[in-house]
Amino acid sequence: MKKSLIILLSTAMLLGLSACGASSSQKLVMATNAAFPPYESVEGNEIIGIDPEIAKLIADDIGRELVIEDMAFDSIIAAVQSGKADIAMAGLTVTEDRKQNINFSDPYTEAAQVIVVKKDSPVASPDDLEGKTVGVQIGTTGDIYAGDIADATIERYSKYFEAINALNQDKIDAVIVDREPAKVFVSESDELKMIDKEFTLEEYAIGVAKENTELLDQINASLKKLQESGEIDKIINKYINAE
Ligand code: ARG
Repeated sequence: MKKSLIILLSTAMLLGLSACGASSSQKLVMATNAAFPPYESVEGNEIIGIDPEIAKLIADDIGRELVIEDMAFDSIIAAVQSGKADIAMAGLTVTEDRKQNINFSDPYTEAAQVIVVKKDSPVASPDDLEGKTVGVQIGTTGDIYAGDIADATIERYSKYFEAINALNQDKIDAVIVDREPAKVFVSESDELKMIDKEFTLEEYAIGVAKENTELLDQINASLKKLQESGEIDKIINKYINAE
C-alpha cells in the first residue's frame, strides 16, 4: 500500500517535471530557404535576415524557442503541412493557390517581382521577355509568372544564386526575382541591372498548418504588437535602406 503510493507520487512528480520542462522549451520550428538576402541568408554558421529576426521576436513573445530549418524552397509548404515545421517564413508570398494548403498570418511586409538583366540587355519591361530564356527559383511566384510569358523558355534553379550566375555567364536572358533580393544581387555585380517596372505586387506572410489555428492566432497577436511598437519596421529598415 505504502509502496504503491510512493510509486504513484513519484510518477506524478516525473510527469509534472517533464510537462514543465517541455513547456519552458517548446520549440517553434521555422522552415526557410536561406539563400534569399536580405530576408534570409547564411552568415558563418548562422542564419540572418529580416525573417529570422521577426521570427525570434514572435517566438520570444509566445514563449517558445526558435529553431530554424534551412531547406529547399519548394519543400517549405509541405514541411509545414506535415508538421515537420511549425511556421514557414521565407519571403513567402501570399497566393490563393498556397492558401489551399496552408493558412497565412496577416502580412508583415510588401514585395514585388522584378526583372534582373545584364546592363547591355535590350529588355526594358516585362513585355520584352517574350521569346526569351528566363531564370527563376523553382516553386516561387517568379516561376509562376514566367509561365505566363509568351514563348519564353523557363530555366528553374534550386537557388536564385544559380540563376544569377547563369545570367552573368549569358546562359539565360533574365531572372525574375523579388525586388529586395534583386537589389542585393545587382549590388554584388558590375554587370547586372534591375528593371524598375514591377511585374506584380505581393505581400509576405507567415505560413501555418491549417489545423494549427491556435498558433496562427498567437502569431497574428504578436505581429500586431510588434507592428504597433515599431519593432518590425526597425528590423526591416536595418536591412533595407529606405528610398
Ligand atoms: N516571394 C517568392 C515566393 O513566395 C519567392 C520567395 C523565395 N524565398 C526564399 N527564401 N528563397 O514564391
